[in-house]
Amino acid sequence: MKDLKKEISNLLIKNDVGLKEDEIISLIEIPPNQEMGDFAFPCFTLAKKFRKNPAIIAKEIASEIESDLFEKIENVNAYINFYVDKKYFVNNVINEVLEQKYNYGSSNMGQGKNIILEYSSPNIAKPFHIGHIRTTIIGDVIKRVYKHLGYNTIAINYIGDYGTQFGVMIAAYKLWGDKEKINKDPINELLNLYVRYNKEAEENPEMMDKAREYFNKLENNDAQAVELWTWFKEISLREFERVYKLLNIEFDNYNGEAYSSKWIPDVIEELKQKELLTYSDGAYIVDLEKYDLTPVIIIKSNNSSTYITRDIATAINRMREYNYDENIYVVATQQNLHFQQWKKVLELMGYDFFDKCIHVGFGMVSMKGGTLSTRKGQVIFLEDVLNKAIEKTKEIIENRNEEIENKDEVAQKVGIGAVKFQELYNSRIKDYVFDWVEVLNFDGETGPYVQYTYARAKAVLRKANYKQEFKDLSYDDITSDIEYSLVKSLESFKDSIIRAKDKYEPSIVTRKVTEIAKNFNKFYNNISILVDDENLKNQRLNLTYATSIVIKTGLGLLGIDTVEKM
Ligand code: ARG
Repeated sequence: MKDLKKEISNLLIKNDVGLKEDEIISLIEIPPNQEMGDFAFPCFTLAKKFRKNPAIIAKEIASEIESDLFEKIENVNAYINFYVDKKYFVNNVINEVLEQKYNYGSSNMGQGKNIILEYSSPNIAKPFHIGHIRTTIIGDVIKRVYKHLGYNTIAINYIGDYGTQFGVMIAAYKLWGDKEKINKDPINELLNLYVRYNKEAEENPEMMDKAREYFNKLENNDAQAVELWTWFKEISLREFERVYKLLNIEFDNYNGEAYSSKWIPDVIEELKQKELLTYSDGAYIVDLEKYDLTPVIIIKSNNSSTYITRDIATAINRMREYNYDENIYVVATQQNLHFQQWKKVLELMGYDFFDKCIHVGFGMVSMKGGTLSTRKGQVIFLEDVLNKAIEKTKEIIENRNEEIENKDEVAQKVGIGAVKFQELYNSRIKDYVFDWVEVLNFDGETGPYVQYTYARAKAVLRKANYKQEFKDLSYDDITSDIEYSLVKSLESFKDSIIRAKDKYEPSIVTRKVTEIAKNFNKFYNNISILVDDENLKNQRLNLTYATSIVIKTGLGLLGIDTVEKM
């Protein structure tokens, strides 16, 4: 189908409005309701330019332009409203979906461009808790969106596997460690050791010196320190892997904080040479007062490197390794200051790629009713939440429909999908409350609702014994407002993917998929699909099939599976 905004811009340019294509396109609006057409062009800019009343300009232009693609072009006050030729539009959209199938909305805009997506990044030997849900799921979706648009993505789990706390872990293990116990329940045992050590160190400060000593040993590749650290890392990752598997989330590598630390000496040297480093109270810092930011500590007085130094080294090294177009960090807004400082330091170092380094923040998640009861005490483990979602979903479907054979599989897909959907429904920057009732509601704007809509479309197709799409149909009878709205939402799905990428905002796709599901249900409830008139029935079946394709593609971008029956 021709790009309709471009067509509008061509028409206006031919009419000598004196604006460029991209200016016109950025001015075009989508009217809030169908009575005002499919597109509207406001004439205020032209009014200023030509010193004329905008409504008069709108009226003049509307009467002078015409195109086969629009059945009506008309002004209402200062707006020129464009009414798309419905037949042209409906035919093009349905054909395009049926041709491209699950590639619908894909693009080659990203060809040859490398995008680094860093997300999840939990800390070794610490619980993988509910707080990690956001970075993990949002990051994965941003990756899927970029991929769909043809970018080459590199997904990195920047695990927290370095820093003084590993000195604490090693020191604690040497005092009280029990290998067998740890192997049985790694995260909790390691956490216990860590907590106990820190607590006792409050009274015996020399214990902290000991811990720092061990971290120094680790930094200097002491064999025993490295061996213990490697083991902590292996058993922790094994635990995390179970969660990633449940979520069906993958990474290209796990190059975390330790991986980058080998370039730290170079970074420090470079900062010195560029005269950015100042000595202050035994530590080396970069002063950012001029930029209204607090100073950055590069090396602590005890000579160890810091979190931010590792992040600086990482950004520089990733450029060498991947020559990235964008280096995206999906990390909570609590770390805003950290990322502002980090970007500033990269800029001051003279790296013009600093503005390709992007922090994508998000708000906090809390649990409705305080905590989720968990055998593991205070922390809410993400794994427990996911398993509970699956369990609860199973109860619900058991009460709903007896005829599903693969109930466990369905419960898994719907339960995990429900959790992901809720995570992706609101704009990422907002704080949100995790609420079981909302997550698993089959009727609200939820994952189960959309998945159910997909299954419903597939049920219609099964009932009609539909094997594949009817070819060479003309959709001249798809004319009702209800059907037209559905087709319009299928079309605007494409643009939602691009907007989601531009704004690093998965909720744009989530909302679009929800809108499509709602429009389909309206269609399903108000218009008979399986009518006697064979030709009409086939047109509607193709529309049903096209809708199922777009919903599945949209859910796929959200990392959510579909089920055929639920
Ligand atoms: N491991 C850190 C944490 O759990 C998050 C890492 C974020 N990424 C980064 N490049 N600093 O808080």
